Amino acid sequence: MTNVTDLRSTLQEIARLPSDRPMGMPGAFYSDPAQFEWEKTTVLRRGWHCLGRVDEISEPGDFFTLNLLDEPIIVVRGDDGEIRVLSNVCRHRGMPLAEGSGHAKRFICSYHAWAYGRDGALLRAARMKNAGFDAKNCRLNAFPTAVWRGFIYCSLDAGAAPFAEGAEALDAQMAPYQPENFRVVHSAREEWRTNWKCLVENFMEGYHLSVVHPQTLHGYTPTGLAKKAASGPGFTSYFANYPDDIPSRGLGAPGLDDKARQRSALFARFPTQVASQAASLLVSLMIFPRAADLIEVKWTMSVYADDLDDETIQQRISLWEDVNREDREKLEKLQQTLGSAHALSGPLAEDDYEGTIRDFLLWMAEQDCKSVQSP
Ligand code: FES
Ligand SMILES: [Fe+2]
Repeated sequence: MTNVTDLRSTLQEIARLPSDRPMGMPGAFYSDPAQFEWEKTTVLRRGWHCLGRVDEISEPGDFFTLNLLDEPIIVVRGDDGEIRVLSNVCRHRGMPLAEGSGHAKRFICSYHAWAYGRDGALLRAARMKNAGFDAKNCRLNAFPTAVWRGFIYCSLDAGAAPFAEGAEALDAQMAPYQPENFRVVHSAREEWRTNWKCLVENFMEGYHLSVVHPQTLHGYTPTGLAKKAASGPGFTSYFANYPDDIPSRGLGAPGLDDKARQRSALFARFPTQVASQAASLLVSLMIFPRAADLIEVKWTMSVYADDLDDETIQQRISLWEDVNREDREKLEKLQQTLGSAHALSGPLAEDDYEGTIRDFLLWMAEQDCKSVQSP
């Protein structure tokens, strides 16, 4: 096991390097359980995490459940149409209230039948006559929640910094694609034996595209056409441009220009969301860290209006299943060597290929400073 203090100093040293000589972090940053524990209590618990898309729960009472950093949560649409992220832990003696996904008029505990409304209020608790009981004090905790362009986010920290502070440049870059008008056509969950930061970095760098995805992506988004795009507080992005002779795949939102149609705009909202936005297709990977070497990945695919027919949608789903499998195989192999004493800090490629990794590490270094200032 490495000393977390050493890793934190290394991160700060790397953050101070000039932009034309960027370095990555050593393997221990991605494999050490103590480092992971440190991240859980700092950057992860305080961060905003994407949980899914609003149209996964389009009707009042629609819900899905997740485990976010050991916290069981219910994401539910209320009678007022608002989306809430509630604790999935009964206020009586701690039973989980809901499982999987579905539709619920009320959440009724399977242990002693306490019943909660879709807003988390306790509505009914049979035979509770003791003086110390007051239903008003038994609401389910509601976590800070935000919606941005059809994505649902939450933080586990009631005192978290406001969502998306300073991310106007990302919003401006994505706005022409109208991500909020895409509809979900596929959702899946998988366990990957990798560190959460490895997937963030992998998804956000174009350097590996032609090497790892020769059959699936190289023809559409070759490494050589990758171009760094907007970055700022809490996000980074790059454009995976298509060769000129590849026909545009769907028109997308009205007003989207030809250049925007000829590329996928990949972005990360730190710490745990990575996504690929194209004219007609939007793929979002939500990373739920479990251990230093384990994540749950939820990924959704959405399409713009009726741009793609059913057959094309099925082809796109199977293409992304292949792409994700290719990445997963690489990352699981990578994880096995990251614990080596010789997995040292290595040089990063230039901005268009790995500048996004530098952005991520700069952000991690900044969060680390903040966590020292406000422990
Ligand atoms: S634990 Fe839920 S009603 Fe008792
Ligand atoms: Fe990849």
